[in-house]
Order: sequence, then structure tokens, then C-alpha cells
Amino acid sequence: MDASTIVCKCEEINIAEIELAIKSGANTFDDIKRLTRCGMGPCQAKICTNLVRQIISESLEVPLSEIRPPRLRMPLKPTRISALVGNEVSSSVISVFSESAPQEDDENHG
Ligand code: FES
Repeated sequence: MDASTIVCKCEEINIAEIELAIKSGANTFDDIKRLTRCGMGPCQAKICTNLVRQIISESLEVPLSEIRPPRLRMPLKPTRISALVGNEVSSSVISVFSESAPQEDDENHG
């Protein structure tokens, strides 16, 4: 992997940006999150957590086990506002990833 390799696909943050954040004083995932938006995408750091922890560990020469994952905040996945206000008709929690996939009916009719 070179410095341009994307680590956080949701926010398009590469290794060089993570390393720059570390050189600027970041030493936790949450510090890097504040400086770069890494981990703030739709997956809520599910994809990038371990890669970022590994970069921190190698850059600071600290065991990986000592690098904590980012703090999680609610909602844990994308949620419609109507689900939060209690509209029973559309109160299910829906992932943006499942909504973006074309439906068979969409392909046939539109
Ligand atoms: S890959 Fe980093 S927030 Fe999704």
C-alpha cells in the first residue's frame, strides 16, 4: 500500500491524510476522526476502524491492542427521520446501501 491508498472509503481518506493527522498530534482514532472525518461515513467506521488502528499502532510504535476503536454514537446505521419520530407506517430502520441497489421492478419499468 502506498500513501494514496484509500483507508476510509466512505469519506475518501487515504493513508497520507491519516499519517498527517498523526504528525499533527492525533494519537487516537477519535482524534483522527475529528481532524479528517475518517469514520464519519455511512458505515460509521465499520470498514476503516481496523486499518486506521493499524496505522496508528505502526506510526506511534504502540501495540495494536492499546489503540481503542472509535466511540460509537447513535444511530448505529442510517435511519429515516420518520423512524425516529415514531411514524408507524415507515418506522423500519433502512440502510442506505440497500436503498441504492436497483430493484428488479425499477429495471423493468423505468
Ligand atoms: S469506511 Fe470509514 S466511515 Fe465508512
